[in-house]
Amino acid sequence: MDQKAPELTIILPTFNERDNLPVLVERIGRALPAVDWEILVVDDNSPDGTSTVARALGQNDRRIRCIRRIGRRGLAGACIEGMLASQAAYVAVMDADLQHDETQLMVMLEKLREGGSDLVAASRYIDGKTAEGFSTTRARASHWSTAIARGLLKVDLTDPMSGFFMLRRDVIDTLAPDLSTQGFKILLDIAATGGGKLRIAEIPFVFGARLHGESKLDARVALDFGQLLLAKATNDRISFRFVMFCLVGLTGVGVHMLALWSLHSLALGTFSVHQAIATAIAIAWNFVFNNAFTYRDQRLTGWPFIKGLIEFELICAVGAISNVGIANLLYGQDSIWWIAGLGGAVMGAVWNYAVSAAFVWRSN
Ligand code: GDD
Ligand code: MN
Repeated sequence: MDQKAPELTIILPTFNERDNLPVLVERIGRALPAVDWEILVVDDNSPDGTSTVARALGQNDRRIRCIRRIGRRGLAGACIEGMLASQAAYVAVMDADLQHDETQLMVMLEKLREGGSDLVAASRYIDGKTAEGFSTTRARASHWSTAIARGLLKVDLTDPMSGFFMLRRDVIDTLAPDLSTQGFKILLDIAATGGGKLRIAEIPFVFGARLHGESKLDARVALDFGQLLLAKATNDRISFRFVMFCLVGLTGVGVHMLALWSLHSLALGTFSVHQAIATAIAIAWNFVFNNAFTYRDQRLTGWPFIKGLIEFELICAVGAISNVGIANLLYGQDSIWWIAGLGGAVMGAVWNYAVSAAFVWRSN
């Protein structure tokens, strides 16, 4: 038996793809008859038992393996981990839900074998293949993201958010420490991090039909995109989550004032009571929006949502108290009102962010 590593590792990131996986594995086998390939499923402990299915497939075919990750979520991180586990000359990343056309794998492999490129990306937007399945909003969003990718990140891709690509395995060793493990923008991240040194080729493909409904893709991809831009522009020094958290906090200030105004107009009780209730309402507002956007990848629902809300109220109450304390302290030192006020607010925000990240939404 040949003891050498295969030529190509196909990474299949999965979350709840139990039924799609056997179909896809079969199709890949048919698409690559003369290629020495292996499949590496990277499953984030899917509740539907995808990893059990992957293991069963692997028991009949040693070319199929599975990494089951516990306590972690994230498409980009799963892909990076899979690529780093490969011993092959080339690695491919593709969706496991049958939306990516496996017959393109051979085209990509041949391009890489020719040696002129380090990475081949499958694009949904070349050769006028964009059209059909895409709404105008989506086409426009893609147009803008491409323009921004070109202008700011110097990445020349027609479909920077594509999740279907193949590259030389050695490329990833150099880039891995600088890649973000969150979100869907792994290709754009690789291209941006690789800079001008990476030789990229593109091939067209048609994005297959979605099996279950329409995803919240537009919003999610936009958020991912913003996150990557910020990370690259600040050298990873400013966390996108913190920026989101502060933006949500700013809307909370508006909610606070509105609540305070309403309570005040009702003229029941004292001002301190109004202020306390308005603060609690604003904190609840912040919780709901942080849970929906800032921590959309680890959104709390059901009982954990209630528990998280209570924890968040307590944490932010302490944050509000320390905000006032620190502002007083600063004001006592130099009497410049806006430095004192800003200092208090920043400390409060940092406290709320750090403590809620540690206790409410636990896995960063
Ligand atoms: N391991 C792991 N962890 N896999 C995940 C996770 C996760 O947290 N989230 C999603 N996946 C897997 C899915 O099981 C699927 O195989 C693949 O990643 C893509 O996920 P979908 O949820 O089907 O994404 P999509 O169809 O909305 O998005 C596609 O288009 C985007 C751009 O428009 C994907 O190709 C994206 O990569 C692409 O950015
Ligand atoms: Mn999909």
